[in-house]
Amino acid sequence: FILVIDYGSQYNQLLTRRIRDLGVYSELHNPSITIDEIKAFNPKAIVLSGGPRSVYKDDAYTVDPEIFNLGIPVLGVCYGMNLIVHNTGGEVGRLEEAFSGVDTINLDSSVELFKGLNNEEEVVMSYHDDVKSIGEDYEVIATTDRNKFAAIKHKELPIYGIQFHPESKHTPKGDVFVKNFIRDIVGCKGEWTMENFIDLEIQKIKEEVGDKKVICAMSGGVDSSVTAVLLQRAIGDNLTCIFVDHGLLRKGEADMVMEEFGKGFNINIIKVDAQDRFLDKLAGVSDPEQKRKIIGNEFIEVFNDEAAKLKGIDYLAQGTIYSDIIESGTETAETIKSHHNVGGLPEDLEFKLIEPISTLFKDEVRELGLELGIPEHLVWRQPFPGPGLGIRVLGEITREKLEIVRETDWILRDEIAKAGLDRDIWQYFTVLPGIRSVGVKDDVRTFDYTIGIRAVHSVDGMSSNFAKIDWDVLETISKRLVNEAKHVNRVVYDITSKPPATIEWE
Ligand code: XMP
Repeated sequence: FILVIDYGSQYNQLLTRRIRDLGVYSELHNPSITIDEIKAFNPKAIVLSGGPRSVYKDDAYTVDPEIFNLGIPVLGVCYGMNLIVHNTGGEVGRLEEAFSGVDTINLDSSVELFKGLNNEEEVVMSYHDDVKSIGEDYEVIATTDRNKFAAIKHKELPIYGIQFHPESKHTPKGDVFVKNFIRDIVGCKGEWTMENFIDLEIQKIKEEVGDKKVICAMSGGVDSSVTAVLLQRAIGDNLTCIFVDHGLLRKGEADMVMEEFGKGFNINIIKVDAQDRFLDKLAGVSDPEQKRKIIGNEFIEVFNDEAAKLKGIDYLAQGTIYSDIIESGTETAETIKSHHNVGGLPEDLEFKLIEPISTLFKDEVRELGLELGIPEHLVWRQPFPGPGLGIRVLGEITREKLEIVRETDWILRDEIAKAGLDRDIWQYFTVLPGIRSVGVKDDVRTFDYTIGIRAVHSVDGMSSNFAKIDWDVLETISKRLVNEAKHVNRVVYDITSKPPATIEWE
């Protein structure tokens, strides 16, 4: 186990990820972690990550210098290196101008951390502070033309500091730096696999839950489905899933969930038909935020009502994943985003929470899903927002408009799959802006709706680029949309990236 302490850099998740890719389990933790907590984890090594603050300022995140006496390897990256320097007799100061970009480091390839590398390598650097001097126990092991302290090392102990970011994909040999540290310096063999994870997690769930009962909110999305299947493996029929049909689902979705997971996996699923409840509450509401709030609150009420009908439930299981936690749970303000999974649940639910996949990244969740026997077409489903089609009908939601979005989404999905793009494009869907315009069909004037197509490439939904779909594919989609979907006479393609646009239109 490798402990990564998060000082707020956008790259920190990737750092954890690079280590896991070597088959070594790694977790990111907040900087407030105490030395006792660190000792309890008994990590094989500690990585101090990057971050935007200055180690010498009052608001700096720190680390207990006791970590340098634990006898385990320490790697400081960027801010992490500055922390090492600051705590071991060196000095960190401000540069007049920040540097951000690719730079060439001159390194000593006889140093273990640099094994197998050339004497000059390109690396990503991003810093406004740099090291002015290092403590007497330390030596310089790499420089750049701009920076005399691009990497340092303790003269005797396995403590390293690097100013650059090996985890960035723009550092071409990044994985070599990480591998040298993890494999050779720390000595981890890399035995962590999804199979081990399943065994360990099932064991943990059994120990925690025993023969008590668990409910799980299931949407049919990847995270909640994987959670449900994993739980079922551990506790069988003591699991009940609740699937809320809020009337804002995609075509065929409710049947698919009941068929694939209810019948296919033999999971207890209660389908709650709550369409009228939701659509009545949404009638006449056009403000996007208000719509989201109504949908969120109603979801909780329906879930609460159903949970109350079931007797003797002790646990609530959720498909919270690692990025949900990182985005909401870190103290490093730059990365905070609200946690939509847990945030909305009322406190009086009085269940204990279990989140069995909360240490996994999305692609690891998918790998786990496949390992659990969930078919590829389910594991690779594109993300679908909780408020569903409700935020794809812009403005006021009506049943007629929902039907148009549902039908056009179905056609789009079909054509994207036919074009072999369903795994290539991260998310794709149609939206119905309230626009109606003039057209002509069978020589007759029409005055009908415009449909927007959104298709984006992304890694985590935080940023995205619009997908450059082939014109021929777009043409086929457009023709089918206007011919097959009722009340559609115009199709537009959204060519904005996020930022400045968001992926969804509301
Ligand atoms: P935006 O529109 O913010 O979306 O660029 C980023 C990703 O998040 C999804 N999304 C949501 N997912 N509840 C969810 O579970 C929500 O309220 C929600 N809003 C947006 C969106 O589909 C995209 O994948």
